[in-house]
Amino acid sequence: MKKALITGASSGIGFEYAKYLNQNGWSLDLVSHSEERSKKAREFFQNNNNNNYYHLDLSKKDSILELLDKVDCPDLVVANAGITMMSKAGDSSSLQRDELYYLLCGGVIDLIEGLVPRLKEKDASRIVIISSIGAVTPMPKSSLYASAKSGIYSYGRSIGEELANENISVTISLPGYVKTNAHKRAGLDHLEKKIPFWMWVSAEKVVKMTEKASIAGKSTVIPGLAYKLVKPFLGMEITSKAWKMLNKRN
Ligand SMILES: NC(=O)c1ccc[n+]([C@@H]2O[C@H](COP(=O)([O-])OP(=O)(O)OC[C@H]3O[C@@H](n4cnc5c(N)ncnc54)[C@H](OP(=O)(O)O)[C@@H]3O)[C@@H](O)[C@H]2O)c1
Repeated sequence: MKKALITGASSGIGFEYAKYLNQNGWSLDLVSHSEERSKKAREFFQNNNNNNYYHLDLSKKDSILELLDKVDCPDLVVANAGITMMSKAGDSSSLQRDELYYLLCGGVIDLIEGLVPRLKEKDASRIVIISSIGAVTPMPKSSLYASAKSGIYSYGRSIGEELANENISVTISLPGYVKTNAHKRAGLDHLEKKIPFWMWVSAEKVVKMTEKASIAGKSTVIPGLAYKLVKPFLGMEITSKAWKMLNKRN
């Protein structure tokens, strides 16, 4: 039985990833922060006796060390846990920045670095990193989020080339707007009305496209046609302006 380690598995993209793998007979190590919020996932998977549940605050280094200590080496790592955060430049506290950066970037690197020596002993394994389209386009008022996602995108692409010889594939997924709990948690639920419907991608679609790309050994995947079409032009000034208007970030 193949084993996957999924962080942020209690809701949204991580929960959908767990459902998808569960249907395909995987055993799952599921990590989230709040035991209370993971109830739905635990109930959903109650018939899978091979699952393990961990409740850790992954914005803290000690939690990653504890996780590395507790888990067996998986065949697939899905580094997904995260929050979204809006903050104007100069408005965040040092603690907010430290925790956001560790959760979205530093902690993901620590987790992967800790697992790679064990993954190398397997015949083949896969790493999936859920970054964001914000990694490759300016996101005014979300600069901390975008830069952390950019950092992990860059790390993933680099280790992907390095680990290809070891039969470890690394795929970074760059979703746009996905309807999950993320925006509500950040007090941004108004975005669900403001952002045009065609800019939303379902968590199921993100998972299917990401898993397909990972199995095919692709380094990057952009789930959703709208984002795929716009991505090559995001560096251009005119596209950037239109993008910011659509995202209500002017
Ligand atoms: N939704 C979008 O539009 C979107 C777009 C691009 C990228 N993403 C990325 O997709 C990933 C998943 O987000 P989502 O949209 O699925 O959000 P979500 O529904 O809010 O799920 C977030 C998951 O991450 C876990 N998590 C958050 N903070 C944690 C912490 N400090 N320690 C441990 N676990 C923590 C949550 O567990 P608890 O509930 O227990 O805290 C939950 O399981 C994130 O990395 C996000 O940045 C989302």
